[in-house]
Amino acid sequence: MADRRPLIAGNWKMNGLKANLGEITAIAAEAAASPAVDVALFIPATLIAPAVAAAPDFFIGGQDVHENASGAHTGCISAAMLVEAGAKGVIVGHSERRTDQHETDATVAAKASRAKTEGLSVILCVGESLEVRDAGNAEEVVSAQLLASLPQEASSDWLSIAYEPIWAIGTGRVPTIEAISEMHSALRAALRKMIGGDADKMRILYGGSVSGDNARDILSVADVDGGLVGGASLTAAKFVPIIEAARNA
Ligand code: PGA
Repeated sequence: MADRRPLIAGNWKMNGLKANLGEITAIAAEAAASPAVDVALFIPATLIAPAVAAAPDFFIGGQDVHENASGAHTGCISAAMLVEAGAKGVIVGHSERRTDQHETDATVAAKASRAKTEGLSVILCVGESLEVRDAGNAEEVVSAQLLASLPQEASSDWLSIAYEPIWAIGTGRVPTIEAISEMHSALRAALRKMIGGDADKMRILYGGSVSGDNARDILSVADVDGGLVGGASLTAAKFVPIIEAARNA
C-alpha cells in the first residue's frame, strides 16, 4: 500500500436504526485499537447524531450530499447539515445513486466540491457495469468516468477514490486479483495525468462483496489502499475481520 494509510470504510446504505448503535460502538472500539488503519462508517443521515454521541472519537460520515449549499431541494441533505450532525465525511457518486437518482459525473464532481467547502472528506465512487466489463474496455471507461467526476480541487488530503464494479456489489462476485490490480493501476495512472504527483498519495479503495474471507488478498494488491464495504459492514462480527486484514496486509 506504499505509504498510504489503509482506509476501511463501511457503507450501511438504507440500513440502521438506533437499535443498531451497539454495532457502531463495537466497530469504533476496534478502530481505536487499530491505529495504523483508518476506519469509518457511512450511515443513514438520521443515525449520524446518535452515532457521534455514542462514539465521539470515531469517524462517521453520510452517504450523499446535495451540490448546493441550501435551498428548495425537498428531501435532500446539505453539507452543513451533515457537519452539524457530526459527520466528518461523505460518499459521493455511489453507483446506486448514479442509477436510482440519475446522478451524472458533473453532479458527482459538484457534490464533492460542496462537501470539501464545508470541511468534509469525500469518498468518490466509480465503477463499470457487467456489460462494459464483458466488452473488454472497463479500464478505459472507468478512467474516463473518474476524469469526469473528479472536482478541480481534488487532492489527497480530503479525497479518496473507491473503485466498485457494479456487478460485484452485493452479489458475492469479486473480480480476480489480477483484474483488481490492473484497474487500480490504470486509475492511479489516470489520476497522475489529472493531479500529478499527488496521485501517489491518493487512496484508491476497492468495493464490491469485500468480506473477511477475501479482504486480505484484495488489500495486499499494491494499488489497493483499503475497502468500501457494504453488507459486511453492518455488524462488528463481519466488519472487524476486514479491519484486522487491513492491519496485516
Ligand atoms: P457490498 O457493497 O460490500 O455489499 O458488495 C459495497 C458498496 O456498495 O459500497
